[in-house]
Amino acid sequence: MKDTFNTDEQEVLPVELLENRILEGDCLYWLKRFPPNIIDLAIASPPYGLLRDYLSEYQNNGFNFEGTAPEVFRVLKPGGVLVWIVNDSVLVPGMGKSARPEREILYFVEDVGFNYHDRMICEKNGSSFPSIKHKRFGQVSELMIIFTKGKIKCFNPIKDHTIKYRDSYGRSTKRQRDNTLKEYKWKISTNEMGLRTNIWRYETGGLGKSSKDLSAHDHPAIFAEKMAADHIKAWSNRGDIVLDFLSGSGTTCCQAKKYGRRYIGIEISTKYAADSRKRIDGTAIVENDDDE
Ligand SMILES: C[S@@+](CC[C@H](N)C(=O)[O-])C[C@H]1O[C@@H](n2cnc3c(N)ncnc32)[C@H](O)[C@@H]1O
Repeated sequence: MKDTFNTDEQEVLPVELLENRILEGDCLYWLKRFPPNIIDLAIASPPYGLLRDYLSEYQNNGFNFEGTAPEVFRVLKPGGVLVWIVNDSVLVPGMGKSARPEREILYFVEDVGFNYHDRMICEKNGSSFPSIKHKRFGQVSELMIIFTKGKIKCFNPIKDHTIKYRDSYGRSTKRQRDNTLKEYKWKISTNEMGLRTNIWRYETGGLGKSSKDLSAHDHPAIFAEKMAADHIKAWSNRGDIVLDFLSGSGTTCCQAKKYGRRYIGIEISTKYAADSRKRIDGTAIVENDDDE
């Protein structure tokens, strides 16, 4: 279904009309038509073509970062989470002054009102840039910045890290008031699995790594499906509404549907909007968050 409702510029649309759709068009246009406080979790990554731009120049490229960020805040429920996945373009000659992620973080926090909850890292399997030529180490990381609207309301810890020395004792030292070090022993958890760290590792890229659905790779910058799924499981519950306002190939929305959440995607490209609707139609819902 093509989601071009006949609405006047000011009309606010009920959530029932918005949910489980890919809305085609500019995200700022659509977000202004959302009622406030309806979204539990937003996940988005800005267009890669803008890596070169400073914050104040975004408007010239179609995606109005400064206008969109306050709208995302408005539509999130109190306690809701925004996962902002972003990278810098240090490898582009002359871009040593971009500091794009840092500028965006300051804008989200100081101008919009988000809390800066965590700075997580996505480690990809391989470096996609010839970094050695630029005298840098292999570029495998992306930032996954976690913002909240007030006190966070949902956290489902992912425990998939095997505790190596389970049931044994660890040894550490603690500095005393007189500056000496005192050794102490502590019991390592009795649980089999421990909490994952805030560095998440994924196989990414074409040939079915980011997604087994090869048609998704028509889009040049898709999320790893598993990464989208892990954020959805961690920061939302079944029945919640997940928004991706730059939805591209629809990875976030597919994974939201798969894990029993409602979804809203916004995508400016007619082709990507149409392709992602097909991808979502072909996605089956699983019963539990633990199901693959
Ligand atoms: C980095 S890609 C997102 C990819 C997506 N996460 C996925 O897994 O496929 C950014 C997307 O934002 C879309 N876009 C750019 N400007 C937009 C705007 N103003 N409103 C809505 N979408 C926009 C682009 O067409 C592109 O598909």
